[in-house]
Amino acid sequence: MKVRTIWHNVRIATCDEAMTELHDAALITNGPTIEWIGRESDMPRDLDREAKRVDLRNRWITPGLVDCHTHLVFAGNRAQEWAEILKGATYEEIARRGGGILSTVSATRRASEAELFDQAAPRLESLLAEGVTTIEVKSGYGLTLEDERKMLRVARELGRRYPVLVRTTFLGAHAVPPEFAGRADEFIDAVATEWLPALYDEGLIDMVDVFCDRIAFDTTQAERVLASAAKHQLPIRMHAEQLANIGATQLATRMRALSCDHLEYSNEDDVRTMVRAQTVAVLLPTAYLHLRETKQPPIESLRRHGASIAVASDCNPGSAPSASLLLAGALATRLFALTAAEVLAGITRNAAKACGAERRGMLKVGCAADFVVWDVAAVEEVLYWMGRAAPAMVVRDGVRLNSLGPQPFANDS
Ligand code: NIG
Ligand code: FE
Repeated sequence: MKVRTIWHNVRIATCDEAMTELHDAALITNGPTIEWIGRESDMPRDLDREAKRVDLRNRWITPGLVDCHTHLVFAGNRAQEWAEILKGATYEEIARRGGGILSTVSATRRASEAELFDQAAPRLESLLAEGVTTIEVKSGYGLTLEDERKMLRVARELGRRYPVLVRTTFLGAHAVPPEFAGRADEFIDAVATEWLPALYDEGLIDMVDVFCDRIAFDTTQAERVLASAAKHQLPIRMHAEQLANIGATQLATRMRALSCDHLEYSNEDDVRTMVRAQTVAVLLPTAYLHLRETKQPPIESLRRHGASIAVASDCNPGSAPSASLLLAGALATRLFALTAAEVLAGITRNAAKACGAERRGMLKVGCAADFVVWDVAAVEEVLYWMGRAAPAMVVRDGVRLNSLGPQPFANDS
């Protein structure tokens, strides 16, 4: 039997399209689904007496957070390359001499599935402690069929072992591995015609992404991979316009991509096509900061054209060594001058849209009962702190996961 719970005496940031805020509100969950939401005084009177009641003491709740762009599964780290960057080397130089992504590829290939799981788990735990209830996880550090499979299996296993919805993305086209050096087209053939169909058949892929940039794959190569994704009816993402504008967004939007991510070098025309195609613009301020990029994504234009903007951690060992979505959100307000409301939508509703997570990222009847209880006076406070905010409680699928902080919550039966 499904458990019905009445979460009352609460303020709610629904994060729906209108960013509705409710005061003196209540939320009723029935098993894993939201059954009713509104002002407490309007609550239906005929509710069963058995329903559990939880007094949230006028705290704020938001939807469970959605981290829509991560490379969470990888082995080792690149602290030594970072030390070189601090002395003046650049991310691109390191990549061009076979370091960068390829350093992580070597380490990831050497790791067993169990080792990869053990290394990714603490990063996931950091995100969960912030209230993340849905996460996208990419492959792309294996770059052989077996090693890509290994990464995706770890991502799936994380979703089974932790209270989080994991959406997996096949990023076989992340870099050309050493055994294909000078043969990028042949590598793309393998990715598009062999690996993608095989991993799809094994149920390991929810979406497909390509790193389309001047140090990665060109648009012709990207299109081959994305066409294979489309053939399998898999949604498309794109690492677009991170280091240069080579037309990645134009291609991705033509193929109705769920999202284009990074976007520092995208222009107004790219923004227009994203809006027309309803493609989400995913901003990754942690990577922008870590790489000391100075060219900003076209924020004003995104805003003017009414683009859907999401913000994600990009958790990865090269450009964003951070497992914090809240830090990414806090940085988006400072570095990109997004408003707190824009970021809040960006780590909930728009992020869910970017990773095809239906019924997530919003608090509405029929949506998943995933939400975060915050001990804050104003909801903006969640993004005001940089490296400090922590939820008081996280509820996933209608079930309370933890209770942090000194005061236990009263369950007035
Ligand atoms: O999102 N741009 C490509 N991929 C990652 C970085 C991967 C890495 O450096 O390991 C990103 O920035
Ligand atoms: Fe990325």
